[in-house]
Amino acid sequence: MSIIKTHDVVLHGKTNQFEITLKPLCDEHLPLLYKWCADPEVLYWTEGGEDCEQSYDKETVHVIYGNVSQQALCFLIEVNCDVRRIDMSIGEKEYWNKGIGSEFVRILVEFAFTIEHVDVLHCIFEDYNHRSKRVFEKNGFTLHHQVNLPPMQKRHFEYHYGLTSEEYFNQKQNFHIK
Ligand SMILES: CC(C)(COP(=O)(O)OP(=O)(O)OC[C@H]1O[C@@H](n2cnc3c(N)ncnc32)[C@H](O)[C@@H]1OP(=O)(O)O)[C@@H](O)C(=O)NCCC(=O)NCCS
Repeated sequence: MSIIKTHDVVLHGKTNQFEITLKPLCDEHLPLLYKWCADPEVLYWTEGGEDCEQSYDKETVHVIYGNVSQQALCFLIEVNCDVRRIDMSIGEKEYWNKGIGSEFVRILVEFAFTIEHVDVLHCIFEDYNHRSKRVFEKNGFTLHHQVNLPPMQKRHFEYHYGLTSEEYFNQKQNFHIK
């Protein structure tokens, strides 16, 4: 049974300097929590009290994060993760709908995660673009959020889809097992 109750919310943002991802905190991150919670200088600022030398052991870390994660969404802040976007267009119409887009997205995704070690891929398309939607979904992308657009006849929403390297490698592993 896990110590930290996790969730599936992933949020992205950036400053002038950093790309920031808020990832669901889970047991995989316990070694980081052990390290931070053993550091008196970190605890001086995060905990009340006068003790400047306090340091929490693993059991205390389990109690603190086990309890708080039951009632709150806990995130790990990942800074400077490598987020890239795929944009695509086949200009020759007679080549649409022949599987080429699906294949080149598959190739780019593999390149991004296995060679470039990208953390997150994302893409943006509008609701009327069924081919784009299908191509990205076939390659494991899922809806991250949608944005309402000023109404026009052909579209109402902009879809933001994403795929993390973790999701990619899990999907690959599951595919091989089946
Ligand atoms: C978007 C684009 C790159 C996709 O590449 P493609 O080679 O045409 O796509 P594929 O043939 O690999 O796949 C298209 C999928 O959409 C499906 N599809 C096509 N029309 C559809 C529709 N009206 N509703 C739902 N699905 C549809 C196809 O059946 C296919 O899925 P399948 O393989 O499961 O059968 C290409 O069509 C293109 O460049 N279009 C013009 C520019 C553009 O739209 N760029 C994207 C801007 S965001």
